[in-house]
Amino acid sequence: MAESDPEIDFEFDPEDLPEKHHGSGPLGPPSLIVDNVHVKYRVFGAKKAGAVTNGKPSLYNRLRWRAQGHVGATSEVHAVRGVSFVAHQGEAIGIVGTNGSGKSSLLRAAAGLIPPAEGAVYVGAEPSLLGVNAVLMRQLTGERNIMIGGLALGLSMKEVRERFDEIVDFADIGDFVYLPMKTYSSGMAARLRFAISSVATPDILMIDEALATGDADFKQRSNAKIEEIREHAGTIFLVSHSLETVRRMCSRVLWMDQGRLVQDGDPEEVTDAYREHVRSRRGKKGKKG
Ligand SMILES: Nc1ncnc2c1ncn2[C@@H]1O[C@H](COP(=O)(O)OP(=O)(O)OP(=O)(O)O)[C@@H](O)[C@H]1O
Ligand SMILES: [Mg+2]
Repeated sequence: MAESDPEIDFEFDPEDLPEKHHGSGPLGPPSLIVDNVHVKYRVFGAKKAGAVTNGKPSLYNRLRWRAQGHVGATSEVHAVRGVSFVAHQGEAIGIVGTNGSGKSSLLRAAAGLIPPAEGAVYVGAEPSLLGVNAVLMRQLTGERNIMIGGLALGLSMKEVRERFDEIVDFADIGDFVYLPMKTYSSGMAARLRFAISSVATPDILMIDEALATGDADFKQRSNAKIEEIREHAGTIFLVSHSLETVRRMCSRVLWMDQGRLVQDGDPEEVTDAYREHVRSRRGKKGKKG
């Protein structure tokens, strides 16, 4: 572990992974257009307004802070800074970048889960953009979450009920489906999220690290699912810290750094450049940042 960067792990056995198809024929029509998207989060109470009394800024200081033009004790995190790209049907797009570089934020904005502060996202006809993670609730049972997730994906109650067993089987969580999700192991939760996310065979499937957990058998099943979606001319986004996974599965890779899109292109080239960047940064810092 001393030699390898903690942000790059190789959990996958490359043998298990489906082959990528880049270079095979022309690109399909555009499925998603991200145009100069910015994502900003407002964080409350993040900055101290001067001196602190009893752990809280005094009224005087808060008023002075406000008089100086600050809106409350809030600060802003500019997580995505003007990212643009066009995704096509049949593409599997990996997103790499260090922790906090804006990968999940970009995906959430692309999925329509958070409104961009600036810029726009355009999607092709009838998108079933996924960001199931955001609607699932840990305190509810797997069963309830399957309903909520299914509805969020645009399925009807009837359709969710019809596919219930399929989802539970796919996630391989057995009777745990009747227990709150907070009782699940992280692997079980990830498998259930993936099973819900992929049940609708969506036009655009977004996977954020979900595949990092799960045993070999689950990996095989999720890979098969990804293949199926790609064959049906869907578009896949895969955020992963495993560069090996990204190289194997993706036809294109986006590299995010500090909210910006640094590189967009061939998986080998982009992951090599990213790996080099992480190495040199580690060399400078001597630790993970
Ligand atoms: N809900 C939130 N409220 C405030 N700040 C947030 C929120 N979500 C993310 N951020 C901040 O936005 C920046 C980008 O975060 P994001 O989760 O998009 O990064 P990431 O690339 O997905 O990181 P990781 O690899 O750790 O998952 C970070 O500085 C993070 O602290
Ligand atoms: Mg993330």
